[in-house]
Amino acid sequence: MGTLRLEVGGSALRAEHERLVERALRRGDPSPESVLDGASLQGSYSERAMRLAREAWRARMVHEHRSAAVFARLLPPLMLAEAPLEYRTTVLRMSLDELRHASLCGRVVELLGGRAEAETDLRTEPLPEHEDATPREAALRHLLFVGCLSETVALGLLAEERELTREPAIAAVVAQLEADEVLHAKLGWSYLGELASSLTDDERMRTNRYLRIAFAHLEREMHRAMPNSPVDDTTREELEALGCLLGVEGRVLFEETMCSVVIPRLVDHGLDAARAWATRASDLG
Ligand SMILES: [Fe+2]
Ligand SMILES: [Fe+2]
Repeated sequence: MGTLRLEVGGSALRAEHERLVERALRRGDPSPESVLDGASLQGSYSERAMRLAREAWRARMVHEHRSAAVFARLLPPLMLAEAPLEYRTTVLRMSLDELRHASLCGRVVELLGGRAEAETDLRTEPLPEHEDATPREAALRHLLFVGCLSETVALGLLAEERELTREPAIAAVVAQLEADEVLHAKLGWSYLGELASSLTDDERMRTNRYLRIAFAHLEREMHRAMPNSPVDDTTREELEALGCLLGVEGRVLFEETMCSVVIPRLVDHGLDAARAWATRASDLG
């Protein structure tokens, strides 16, 4: 365990960090950082809604921070798979995006009256080895899981949150997250598009088999991240205004996005995703 903090220090690298955020990672105008500067909440909220919203945004801060390590770890398998250079550069950009997302979530915690700190396990998990796969097939599995599954599902949730958020400063953060996750999802779909038609029968069969495990793993992760605690309608509306979907709604949206977006697109690329979803299980491999 350790304490996750995200403030920028006073080192010689500070100016370069600020240049990265302001230029390289910039998507729109104004930046969410500048909207957050000096911002305060427009509405008034019950103490319960504020506490739950702080907890949700703090959990998000931890999750985004961990995602930065996932993208950084994608570089070696992409190098091994001889992926085109743009994959190797953009995964590193995505890692930077996730660090920035963590920092933005921390600033929302502060806007909500909390401290942008979390006691959490600072160790991160290595990527799965995929020893039964060729290098390009292993790279495909990683990008399938991260881009086609996790990030595509995250986009569905963020689109809903964007519709519901009423606080301008939080809306600016949600909009930035959503814009960046579009690229993160594209990482998976683009690589799948390049490889799908050239997969051998064996590679396709193993990829279909992998999907069963990936689906079950994702579902477990999503459910863990979206606890199903009941709240009354007023608190729900307050939470939505503060950019937080209820766990129960998130779980429904997860299932909808899987069935109406992810699986049909995987099927379009020749994968047997409908059957993999129907028989998803973690008892393999
Ligand atoms: Fe993110
Ligand atoms: Fe992301």
